[in-house]
Amino acid sequence: MNAAMQVLLAHRSYRDFTDQPVSDADLDAIIEAAQRAPSSIHAQVTSLIVVRDPAKRAKIAEIAGNQPWIAKAPVFICLVADFAKTNAAVEFAGEQQVIHESLEGFAVGAIDAGLVLMTLTTAARAMGLGAVMIGGIRNDPQAMIDLLGLPPMTFPFIGCCIGHFASEPPLKPRLPVKTFRHDEQWHGVPDKATIEAYNAELMEYWKSIGRPDGLPWTANTAKRYKQVYFPKTKLVATKQGFTVDK
Ligand SMILES: Cc1cc2nc3c(=O)[nH]c(=O)nc-3n(C[C@H](O)[C@H](O)[C@H](O)COP(=O)(O)O)c2cc1C
Repeated sequence: MNAAMQVLLAHRSYRDFTDQPVSDADLDAIIEAAQRAPSSIHAQVTSLIVVRDPAKRAKIAEIAGNQPWIAKAPVFICLVADFAKTNAAVEFAGEQQVIHESLEGFAVGAIDAGLVLMTLTTAARAMGLGAVMIGGIRNDPQAMIDLLGLPPMTFPFIGCCIGHFASEPPLKPRLPVKTFRHDEQWHGVPDKATIEAYNAELMEYWKSIGRPDGLPWTANTAKRYKQVYFPKTKLVATKQGFTVDK
């Protein structure tokens, strides 16, 4: 199998990092790869804030709901939907930007950030490093905005930790592919037997890694999805100019 497929099929999130720094050359290469990610209408709306400062990383760990791997990994990268950058282009062209006030604009910001994020983390793994994505920053987006000096028309959607890993976790089981792949048209939700079998498989996985607090897929999803688990997103995004009224 070729190297790219090997990296993709071996994906896992790394949360156990050593103190070894990430070299400038490795980080530059990872960022160069990430900048090759495609972007909607080639606007290149995503910007990266690279955080190496340990005190800042410790603060981000706290903002994200106390995630210690953010303080430990030597590099944290925040992915920002940067409609301030595209606004400069639109003004340069003598027009007024409105896309950031629309649901479409919010979707573009999130999708484009996701593509850059996946490229960053995959490039990191291809370079022999480990990475974990951090949506937890939306726990307190205003604190991220203040910490990183983000202007109006920007929003910190997501981040990731990158570093040398101390241990490699096992692959986390996925739902059967039939629940993921629908040929020609949507064929329905998973049936009871499929759900029960996957819940049992996931509980076996939690047991194998010594996590007695691990939940089945259904309970875990219900625990988060029965509420808006990052309720500040709407308020802060609106304040930043993402009014989503168009
Ligand atoms: C959008 C997004 C946000 C995530 N946020 C976090 C996070 O804040 N903290 C964390 O430890 N993992 C986070 N993860 C990692 C997921 O928990 C992980 O991908 C999932 O449990 C599957 O495990 P695997 O990546 O090891 O296969 C996030 C993943 C995604 C895609």
